Amino acid sequence: MAINLGKMNAYPFQISSMAEYNEAYQKAKENPEAFWADVAAHFQWIKPWESVVESDFASARFAWFNGGQLNITINALDRHAHTKPDALALVWEANDPKEASRRFNYAELLQHVERTAGMLRRLGVKKGDTVGIYLPMVPELVFSVLACARIGAIHSVVFGGFSAQALADRLNDASCKLVVTADEAFRGSKTIPLKDIVDQALLLCPSVERVLVFPRTGAEVPMAKGRDLNWVEAWSNKGNETLGYPETMEAEDPLFSLYTSGSTGKPKGVVHTTAGYMVWTTYTFVNAFQYQPGDVYFCTADIGWITGHSYIVYGPLLAGATTLMFEGLPNWPDSNRWWELIEKHGVNIFYTAPTALRSLMAENKQGPEAFALNSLKTLGSVGEPINSEAWHWFKDAVGKGRCALTDTWWQTETGGIMIAALAGISPEFPTYAGLPMPGIVPVLMDSEGNLLAAAEAEGNLCLEKPWPGMLRTVFGDHERLRQTYFSAYPGYYFTGDGCLRSKEGMHRITGRVDDVLNVSGHRLGTAELENALNFHPSVSESAVVGFPHPIKGQGICAYVVADLAGQTRFETKRELLDLVSKIIGPIARPDLLVFVPGLPKTRSGKIMRRILRKIAEEQSEALGDVSTLLDPEVVKAIQKAFVQAKEDR
Ligand code: WTA
Repeated sequence: MAINLGKMNAYPFQISSMAEYNEAYQKAKENPEAFWADVAAHFQWIKPWESVVESDFASARFAWFNGGQLNITINALDRHAHTKPDALALVWEANDPKEASRRFNYAELLQHVERTAGMLRRLGVKKGDTVGIYLPMVPELVFSVLACARIGAIHSVVFGGFSAQALADRLNDASCKLVVTADEAFRGSKTIPLKDIVDQALLLCPSVERVLVFPRTGAEVPMAKGRDLNWVEAWSNKGNETLGYPETMEAEDPLFSLYTSGSTGKPKGVVHTTAGYMVWTTYTFVNAFQYQPGDVYFCTADIGWITGHSYIVYGPLLAGATTLMFEGLPNWPDSNRWWELIEKHGVNIFYTAPTALRSLMAENKQGPEAFALNSLKTLGSVGEPINSEAWHWFKDAVGKGRCALTDTWWQTETGGIMIAALAGISPEFPTYAGLPMPGIVPVLMDSEGNLLAAAEAEGNLCLEKPWPGMLRTVFGDHERLRQTYFSAYPGYYFTGDGCLRSKEGMHRITGRVDDVLNVSGHRLGTAELENALNFHPSVSESAVVGFPHPIKGQGICAYVVADLAGQTRFETKRELLDLVSKIIGPIARPDLLVFVPGLPKTRSGKIMRRILRKIAEEQSEALGDVSTLLDPEVVKAIQKAFVQAKEDR
């Protein structure tokens, strides 16, 4: 259904018809220099760029707007504070519906960020330093992120659901100098002891010199003398005011690092740089959601993930939008919380994840019926494939059949939306993300590296051209970037996703083709999970696979070879689940733990995960040929153990 949003042309690069899309797409493909120079010209530069794009796939070196100088916060804040100081920038809604909302117009948000920037400078943070941020979803998180950008410090936000160990790994990898945290976080009826987790993590983090503690719940927390500082006290220091000026940054200076899981080893710090990320997040925000001035936009993600970085903070603020951030949960105090929020704040654009939709459908499918939700005009989905049932419920029950729905495919590495309908303009089709953004040239490959030329095809999704928002490096390990993304298909960026292309050129993402799981929209590497399980003294080996889960999208099934040494299965199981929570975080707890006598291995010792996946998917009849296994008999034992594990639950 095409929706006429009226052509206001608030953004000169906003596409408002299919004809304009086709034209932009062709131009961006054939003459990217001219296309992106036109878009970039609408930002404020301290010094213009010398070259639009430089790219070398072989060494995985890319640069956009090289030679240019800017500060991204001048574009996200000062520019709007100057032209429309009273326009609402950030609206915050607390976990507890009884707590008052907080609102900041552009003039106020700029002031708050300046003060925070001044505070960080006064505490010794300099251009090029890395700052760890482990905060709940409070406005101070937005101030901290933007304050880092203002003074040229690299922010590294860690999601509040990660454990002390996972936090320590991330703080160490990025050599963070200062950490911003809170006493505790509210999460529905519970609290999470953030400061306590930071204290445990810092036992392992020699680089951290200072900790700023924002008092969110008012809990008494121990403060280490000389290291820990109360945010409120530090923030109110008059000296901050004059120190909040923006640093001059090079286009390719790193803006932030954000950790994400891959198929091997430890999570990697994906590094995004300044100018390209700025251009890409703004361009995609304005086009995918068809944002119009005055619209209230609500993205339900956590700023601990890329969606929050790009589409709660940077994209919307760069576009001068009103962005709503929510501290709480969709189902607390009850499962109508989001619908109430949409009505309370007159939300026009609502961006969320399929896993949340599925869990709300399961809890209270009729929930949205009691709400008119009249303000809504655009819905967005992100993070995992959206199944048809969730798509239709979103469109009909939440959107009342009159909203555009854009399913947006992208990744931490891509910085912003890559394949998606431009809301109300390009075709939407359930379970298909659709057409690529201008500048994005997706191709499909078979496993031998042949390009699939037929219009209708299914294969591994790769990207042929560089784009402004692409990741530039992996923190401290550029070779890992080259190997992970640019070596499987030389000359292309490999996404790790499988994809089906229809004859009309629409793309449907079918899920990861590597050993990465997507559990409730959270990316987890099977290797990371196995490493955690193998830490247990009684475990000699483990293998983790995903299986379809009605709410989480994928569930985690862990097969472990363990010597129970006199303990019951239940005792060891509890220890293993606790261990995973401790090493990674509660988000990584396996759904199924299967004690097996051995793993299915080939004669060369390779674990045949295909077999383990089929058993976890309860498709034992489709196991295929097991005769190449070293010990084909082990399969029967694993099947039996699987049935047992399901009964144990
Ligand atoms: C998956 C989240 C299908 C995909 C922005 C990708 C999706 C991974 C979609 C990246 C979508 C994301 N449809 N699958 N609309 N969006 N994915 O880095 O497998 O947390 O590779 O970035 O999520 O997850 P990440």
